[in-house]
Amino acid sequence: MVRKIMIAGNWKMNGCLEDGVKLAKEVASAVKSRNKCPCEFVVCPPFTLLYSVKKALRGAKVALGAQDAHFNVKGAHTGDISPVMLKNIGCSYVILGHSERRADHFETSKLVNKKAVAAHENGLKTIICIGETEKQRDEGKTIEVCSAQIRESVPDNATAADTVIAYEPVWAIGTGKTPTASDVEEVHAAVRKVLSQKLGNRVASAMRILYGGSVKPNNAKEFLSLPDVDGALIGGASLKSEDFMSIADSVC
Ligand code: 13P
Repeated sequence: MVRKIMIAGNWKMNGCLEDGVKLAKEVASAVKSRNKCPCEFVVCPPFTLLYSVKKALRGAKVALGAQDAHFNVKGAHTGDISPVMLKNIGCSYVILGHSERRADHFETSKLVNKKAVAAHENGLKTIICIGETEKQRDEGKTIEVCSAQIRESVPDNATAADTVIAYEPVWAIGTGKTPTASDVEEVHAAVRKVLSQKLGNRVASAMRILYGGSVKPNNAKEFLSLPDVDGALIGGASLKSEDFMSIADSVC
């Protein structure tokens, strides 16, 4: 089963109009100049930049993603954004269940599942994030925690076409610390096993599992060459087009 490598940038809460458009234009032209690169590129700017970034990406094979979506399509939900709205302005992906949302907004796996169902029903593909905290890791609970998050967060009818998983150890996000390559492979293989129990072998073997957490140009190749790692979800390094592209170049 050939899984297309995904290089996704999560810009988080960074960027005003000018810098967001500039970054998007840089990424667009860099991707255009690598027309033989087999990767799928995605950028996920904050809500306020989605529309302008979409325009700045015109003509480049870079998909647009949001960083969250509500489970309702419209209505009285102050401060929220619906999957219909995201689809309408050109998003094809939405990140769900990022550990920062699980922490800052008390999002549970059950809620993430509900959001994912709504996103899929409204034509968005999801990047569903999982990952253990440092404490859970120290207690040897990494596989247990990640497996439970997969079982609860991923909809029962998820397919490899509408769902991507991102394994992001919480302690590796923005810290410069990373698990060893063999730790990452162990978790990814375990995640694929749980996906197989939940969704069947065929879906699980086609579903992409990204690694995220301090992915940088100097360590990307190590992670991206692992058999069960199908791409990267990149935070800090996605804010500099050279770094973002240099990570892609390790597989292009
Ligand atoms: P960093 O690459 O900054 O560690 O962030 C990873 C992340 O959280 C991507 O979603």
